[in-house]
Amino acid sequence: MKRKWDASEERYFGIGIYQPKTAENIGSLWRTAHIFNASFIFIIEEKYKKQSSDVLKVWSKIPLFQYKTLDAFLDSIPYSCKLVGVEMDAKAQAIKSYQHPPRAIYILGSEDNGLPHQLKQRCHDLVQLPGDHSLNVAVAGSITIFDRVNKLE
Ligand SMILES: C[S@@+](CC[C@H](N)C(=O)[O-])C[C@H]1O[C@@H](n2cnc3c(N)ncnc32)[C@H](O)[C@@H]1O
Repeated sequence: MKRKWDASEERYFGIGIYQPKTAENIGSLWRTAHIFNASFIFIIEEKYKKQSSDVLKVWSKIPLFQYKTLDAFLDSIPYSCKLVGVEMDAKAQAIKSYQHPPRAIYILGSEDNGLPHQLKQRCHDLVQLPGDHSLNVAVAGSITIFDRVNKLE
């Protein structure tokens, strides 16, 4: 018997941080990503050091990819998958009305400098969360994940 087609099988997402500064932020984002069914997380131009506070052992649940360079990351983006920059930017769309792509990779900027211009230019979309001040990067990533899951599931 033919199995019924299910649109949810055509979607996935990953999320990551460009040049993250603290292992705590990577760990917090990793935990949210795992709990809300992300396929993977990643960091660019930084190395992760294991946290003793990681009681869920998230490293055993979903993979963390570590890219040495921005180019290596950009080269790895899968076919038919959109790169979505999460950033406070004049060109960004408000997340409230944003329709998340079925297959998406969300990229957040570093705690100190945000997303560099060259990376923003490579994003298919830029989305912004509400508020006049920037949020903690792991919090911004977690809200983005929640918005996606809320709208698509
Ligand atoms: C602490 S912020 C970086 C702030 C940096 N000092 C700047 O002025 O660009 C770290 C990252 O969190 C994310 N972020 C924080 N607040 C955000 C917001 N309101 N909307 C979208 N992304 C946000 C972005 O990815 C940002 O690059």
